[in-house]
Amino acid sequence: MIGAKPRRILITGGNTGLGLALAKKLARRHKLLLSGRKSQDEVAGTLPPGAGYVVADQDDPESSARVLVRGIGEFGWDGLDNAVLNAGTGTAPADGVDSTEAIRRSLDVNLLAALLQAHALYPLLEKSRGTLTLVGSVAHKGSATIPAYAASKAGLHGLARALRSEWKGVVSVQVLHPGPAKTDMHEKAGYDPGLMRSLFLAPDDVASMMASAIAARRSPVTLSWVRYLNGGAYTGRRL
Ligand SMILES: NC(=O)c1ccc[n+]([C@@H]2O[C@H](COP(=O)([O-])OP(=O)(O)OC[C@H]3O[C@@H](n4cnc5c(N)ncnc54)[C@H](OP(=O)(O)O)[C@@H]3O)[C@@H](O)[C@H]2O)c1
Repeated sequence: MIGAKPRRILITGGNTGLGLALAKKLARRHKLLLSGRKSQDEVAGTLPPGAGYVVADQDDPESSARVLVRGIGEFGWDGLDNAVLNAGTGTAPADGVDSTEAIRRSLDVNLLAALLQAHALYPLLEKSRGTLTLVGSVAHKGSATIPAYAASKAGLHGLARALRSEWKGVVSVQVLHPGPAKTDMHEKAGYDPGLMRSLFLAPDDVASMMASAIAARRSPVTLSWVRYLNGGAYTGRRL
């Protein structure tokens, strides 16, 4: 590895979509531990060489936090330079009204799991004077048809502000808000963007903007077309 010291980086939701695009970008320079809900067998062959993998199902937020901490120890790490809490889910109900079960799942996976994981990972981040990155969404400002998802991301925005203040001087905290990107998330959510999808950003470009935002430790950061057109995927700090 050339340049800066390799970091120990945890990326939740690192087996596909934006998390995997970020992992692929960082794999040559840093040490990576990725997590997701899928089994080791299901993700075999898709992860970057050398990356570790932990199955941490965030449908059970408390257990996911415990499993991540245990996985980090078993991977041989006694500290963490970056935790990128990126795993996320949502539903886009046809009539705009989610079932209670779907609302709970969005809040559990996107918000409660991130909150419990942040607290569980704090001692490891503290040791390395590391950075906690929460992956939100431009939907945190409110978005028609995805109210529970929008609420969970608004919650992450508030969580980042709270922890940034609480952990000031010890662990950096930031929230990144991507705009729409060409991953499988929309299909999984039951939303067909139609021709709009051609306007979505490429996961690789969002991942480049995520990497430089993480290196800069600023918060909040919106990762949208405006930033992209200003060269956001090609300029900025290198992680
Ligand atoms: N794509 C967009 O347009 C967009 C825009 C703004 C923000 N975001 C945010 O960016 C992040 C990544 O999204 P993406 O587009 O890459 O979505 P994606 O392709 O659907 O990937 C989602 C990731 O989250 C993991 N995940 C979902 N439910 C989980 C659960 N219950 N337990 C553990 N892991 C779970 C998935 O793991 P498995 O594959 O194992 O289920 C997968 O690794 C999310 O937080 C999303 O809200 C995305």
